[in-house]
Amino acid sequence: MTGPSFTHTPRYTLGDWDNKAAVRVRKNDYRLPDDLEQQLASRDWFAPAFIPYIEHPLINQAGRAIAQRLAANHLVYFLDYTTLLEHRVVNRAVETIVHGELAIPIPSQMKTAALQLYTDEGYHALFSNEVAEQIATLYDIRDRAIPRRIDRLLDVIAAASPPDRPLAWFLLGFVSETIIAKELLSITRDTLVSTVYLMLRNHLEDEARHSRYFSEVFQYLWSALDPPQRDLTTRLLLDIIGLYFEPDTPWLMRSLASVGFDEQDSLKIVTGLLQPDAHARRVRSGAVSTFAAMQKAGFFDNALNRQIFFHAGFIDG
Ligand SMILES: [Fe+2]
Ligand SMILES: [Fe+2]
Repeated sequence: MTGPSFTHTPRYTLGDWDNKAAVRVRKNDYRLPDDLEQQLASRDWFAPAFIPYIEHPLINQAGRAIAQRLAANHLVYFLDYTTLLEHRVVNRAVETIVHGELAIPIPSQMKTAALQLYTDEGYHALFSNEVAEQIATLYDIRDRAIPRRIDRLLDVIAAASPPDRPLAWFLLGFVSETIIAKELLSITRDTLVSTVYLMLRNHLEDEARHSRYFSEVFQYLWSALDPPQRDLTTRLLLDIIGLYFEPDTPWLMRSLASVGFDEQDSLKIVTGLLQPDAHARRVRSGAVSTFAAMQKAGFFDNALNRQIFFHAGFIDG
């Protein structure tokens, strides 16, 4: 009979990393295109799926130049967030795998993949920052404060007791890495400024591999946790998943003010994001891969876990 089949990616690896990873094979530069002005006549800075408020009637009335500037603001914000997230959150989570901080044995291929993933994220931070700087210069965007979500995520670590922190770090990475690929899927070639599209697509291709890897590591970890650690994981996941879908309203209000909207109109524009059920709806559609990985790991075999996530509005009963 035939030997073992290797058509499937072996577990706990990033597949053919040497021939697939952006940092290894994509030698693009990320300079804004020479025909930028021409492109902006028909293309956008950022995909509307990332900026749902952009379709608000008040912004439509304000005209294309205003909408374009708001999209540029949001893209710079997103890229600054990405740069911080890759370094301070995702790579810190990866360190828990590489350096044996989790109380489980790490297979050698899992460790190698973690080291490769760390390298990928460093490169993503580099090109995200490179594009952000060019757009910030172009529009003289100066509001570059640390996005609120980064602080909220780091608060999760501060609130955990020191022995629980490696697990908390890992879960911050697991959730981030299983939602980002879905987020980036909403980009389309024909409607975005070419440099932005290329950068986001190169990022997406790596993230599809990362999402698979983190899902597998979560399953491995969950099977090894004792009951008290599983309870802690449940509480942390509920908290962390919620945080990743919170809007940064103060920043959004500042962005709207920067293009001339007064407070009253700005509140009308953001109100849709703040409806009581809007947050749970974003979680349900954005965290599909996260919940699938939890399901596969057996997380929802526990009736109490199902109940907790159902009560939060995150899953069906
Ligand atoms: Fe990344
Ligand atoms: Fe990643």
